[in-house]
Amino acid sequence: MDERPIGVFDSGLGGLTVVKRLMEFLPGENIIYLGDTGRVPYGGRSRGTIMKYARQDISFLLKFDIKAVIAACGTVSTNGLEDIAGDYHIPVRGVLGPTAKAAVRETRSGRIGIIGTKASILSGAYDRRIMELMPQAQITSNACPLFVPMAEEGRITDGDVALDAVAREYLEPMKSADVDTLIMGCTHYPLIRPTIERIMGPRVRLIDPGEETARSLRDQLKSDGLLNGRDQGGKYKYFVTDSTEGFAETGSLFLNAAIDGSVEHVSLEDF
Ligand code: DGL
Repeated sequence: MDERPIGVFDSGLGGLTVVKRLMEFLPGENIIYLGDTGRVPYGGRSRGTIMKYARQDISFLLKFDIKAVIAACGTVSTNGLEDIAGDYHIPVRGVLGPTAKAAVRETRSGRIGIIGTKASILSGAYDRRIMELMPQAQITSNACPLFVPMAEEGRITDGDVALDAVAREYLEPMKSADVDTLIMGCTHYPLIRPTIERIMGPRVRLIDPGEETARSLRDQLKSDGLLNGRDQGGKYKYFVTDSTEGFAETGSLFLNAAIDGSVEHVSLEDF
């Protein structure tokens, strides 16, 4: 039994879609969340900058006595997280591995689609991981940079005219390629899942990185004997690098529940 919390970080509040899944799969675990809201978005930045920020985010979380770090961010997970993970004394994991594995498990035709931020798609990390697992896979990927600001502006309702137009354009290559499985490779996309689902049609399986990562972490903690032994009552603490104002409102949108836990501002300059 291990009572230490799990540290989770993201470029902003989008990572709360992953926390939501962690709460579902590991309801007794304590979680410390860091949202780098002062520097979001990471998705249009270079690999070097993304990794510099990721190291600072991890260093901050390591101030606490945590048992694992989860990078909820699709951009961080695809831009070198695995290259730096070995530098730490506790497991540091992202969403890439469990998500790619799930896509390969779910596809019937081998035609897999990937959507994510510019940096995630440019990295080619999902393509490489899927090809390792399924060399005959046919992959179609597309960067969808407008989805993040749209979700943050609350344009998430299925039927929203602007969202519909943007989503149709971004998803067109997926439809043309007749993918049967689509990775929603960015923290914000679960919020617009109904629109993606409607446009792609009922036969396409959508892969939610948060769900796959939470399931995989639960299995890992279990096999390593690191679960905290409770099946409810996890405690949560949130840290942000910009103002805490509005956190409860925006955070609850991503978490799909009221924020229960303290919220503090932190500066990452010294990390
Ligand atoms: N969290 C990022 C991701 O999942 C999206 C927002 C950003 O670009 O920082 O890729």
